[in-house]
Amino acid sequence: MEPTGDTNEEIISSSKSQKLGIAKALKFNPYDPKFQANPYPVYHQLRSLEPIHQSFAGMWVITRYADAKAVLRDPRFCVNKMQKNVKHKSNSLEQGDFNTLAQAIDKWLIYLDPPEHTRLRGLISKAFSSTSVNILRPQIQKITDELISKVRHQGFMDIISDFACPLPCNVIAAILGIPVEDWFKAYHWSDELSNILDPLSSVQGYEQMNKVAVEFTDYFKILIAQRQKIPQQDLLSALIAVKEQENKLSEEEIISVCMLLFLTGEETTVNLIGNGMLALLSHPEQMQRIKTQPMLIQSAVEEILRYDSPIQITTRVATEDVVLDGVTVRCGEKVLVVLGAANRDPAQFPDPDCFDITRANNNHLAFADGIHYCLGAVLTRIEGEIAINALVQQLPDLQLSQDQVEWRKKVAFRSLKALPIIFKS
Ligand code: HEM
Repeated sequence: MEPTGDTNEEIISSSKSQKLGIAKALKFNPYDPKFQANPYPVYHQLRSLEPIHQSFAGMWVITRYADAKAVLRDPRFCVNKMQKNVKHKSNSLEQGDFNTLAQAIDKWLIYLDPPEHTRLRGLISKAFSSTSVNILRPQIQKITDELISKVRHQGFMDIISDFACPLPCNVIAAILGIPVEDWFKAYHWSDELSNILDPLSSVQGYEQMNKVAVEFTDYFKILIAQRQKIPQQDLLSALIAVKEQENKLSEEEIISVCMLLFLTGEETTVNLIGNGMLALLSHPEQMQRIKTQPMLIQSAVEEILRYDSPIQITTRVATEDVVLDGVTVRCGEKVLVVLGAANRDPAQFPDPDCFDITRANNNHLAFADGIHYCLGAVLTRIEGEIAINALVQQLPDLQLSQDQVEWRKKVAFRSLKALPIIFKS
């Protein structure tokens, strides 16, 4: 998703539904704290009353599984060009600019269309293949066990800050080749940069992101120079080798790719672990099943991805007039594909609000579909399996230590602020 303006519109209602005489106009306000606490009733309402719903700034909100899948696979829809938006915002400033941020996101796969997207994805996809990623299993297990052994004696922890954040951050840093002592710094940077996915980020937000982009770029320039002198067994050295041997990647492209991998590799997996543990802790019978039948872990991870999807929304733009279920989306109009709603569509998933770790035919859209299908899907599945299995099996009598949880104000992501638990030490 990307910015549409700097104001935070409170209520976004549909004039069409009023015309249709629907008593209560449909509301899609992703900034409403009630919506953030539980978006699913709103999704159900939209899907059943107006599955292709025109909302704020004329954007179309898509909530049906079949429509979401069709849009993601349809070449008549392109990705949103955030690079252009950031440059545009930067040009309208009286003082300063966001040039480093614009440059940094210029080669992010999520904002590229073919043929550029095909070229760049081809250059980095090998590092995320099943073979490359499965080799990392022992390393991921080791990081997981170390994090658990730090808190095991104390009988309580915050799953988010003590475990779910450092785990993927350490893993992606290890893949890229970021030195151990810098992992936390890189985590802070990617957390700030994830605000780029917020459709209503403020100018101050952009200033902060540009500052972070400058720090990230300066940091990576030094690291690239070091790896050029002494290559290591890491993805950064592999990308440099592509640059030098085949002259296919520029330094700016390498930095842009690393930044995207850090961002996509970290925040999403935090949410998979956090949302997954919340779902299990809130469904004691499912928790009991996974404890006694650890072989269910793969299907449990798929159900977590469906039930409370880490990325809720992605954006596409029509490159020509497209008719969807009788509704014409005009050339240039934006479409919000609500993955979180598609994954609760009763037409695709029987009893969609039921959390069932044995669910069959779970073809969810948590990793999207089409040419932008998540590059890190294999990696994050392994991380999720190892992380959730370790928490459930290694910490006895796990329980939530408070009744209510709070969600972060991130529109595209479904992110918990904290998940405090207690267990027998
Ligand atoms: C639970 C964890 C994750 C979820 C739910 C997730 C979800 C997604 C989704 C929905 C997209 C498509 C976005 C769009 O079409 O607009 C995507 C793309 C992507 N993801 Fe993930 N992701 C996860 C973890 C990861 C990890 C661990 C990495 C890498 C380290 C990663 C790397 C990427 C990349 C590079 C893309 C862009 C692919 C492209 O545009 O061709 N993701 N992810």
